[in-house]
Amino acid sequence: MISGHFNLDDHAAYERWRDGKLSQAPVSVTDLVVEVGDIAALTSAEHDALSQRLRCSNMAVYAERPKSGRNHKAALKALAARLGLVSLDANALADDDGITPLAVHRDGTRARYIPYTERPITWHTDGYYNPPERTVRALLLHCAGKAAEGGANRLMDNELLYIRLRDEEPDLIRVLMASDAMTIPGNDEEGLARPATVGPVFSVDSDGSLHMRYTARSRNVVWSQAAAPAAEAVRRLLDGPSPHVFEHVLEPGQGLVSNNPLHTREPFRDDPACPRLLYRARYHQRIAGT
Ligand SMILES: [Fe+2]
Repeated sequence: MISGHFNLDDHAAYERWRDGKLSQAPVSVTDLVVEVGDIAALTSAEHDALSQRLRCSNMAVYAERPKSGRNHKAALKALAARLGLVSLDANALADDDGITPLAVHRDGTRARYIPYTERPITWHTDGYYNPPERTVRALLLHCAGKAAEGGANRLMDNELLYIRLRDEEPDLIRVLMASDAMTIPGNDEEGLARPATVGPVFSVDSDGSLHMRYTARSRNVVWSQAAAPAAEAVRRLLDGPSPHVFEHVLEPGQGLVSNNPLHTREPFRDDPACPRLLYRARYHQRIAGT
């Protein structure tokens, strides 16, 4: 039994939470940006500034001056530890340390998978095909090199999408919380054969936080009959104009710290002489204190 503002019958709690959430919502991506000296050694003020943005919108963007010759992965791991993230979700194409370098691969195994191409990736949350014990609750991206052109991420706080849907029709939420709402057939994700996963789109964790499991892909996803119209509504809200959808190109030295919000990757053109390189780390915890 869900208690509090995510209980569909508790209108008063929901309206209080919604009004507070909307009143604090960022109006542009610049509201999410925090300048930091070194992600591997955040000051208390920098940590507080990131946490404050994460509490309001489940995401923040740090901006540190690019550092030459640095070990990006070690820095990212130190940042993750500072944010209370310890359980990395590795996939078969991650490096041995569990962090995945995302760059264009023109041949080899990785070239078969969209993340390693210049192609767009539609709206999703990370790990939507994972089994429940490997739910991805936090996502970090660190930019070491940007594309010659394009490659932005569009971003939306899952809780704001929830509000848009519930205000339109609470039944949309009800059907998306059903345990059979979305099935991802067994397949091969980034080099790992995996069984089918069946589960809800929206779920509420034991700590009361909202989790969203979603992909806008039309292939390799099966919606229950009840959830299909709600999935259409989600797609319509994500594709339509919204003050809550932000678009941002990560610059070298910038990164996203987040509780796995909805996001895309826009198409890009890579310059092999100066390639796009993002490090991605997915964790099973949410960011501590957010
Ligand atoms: Fe993603």
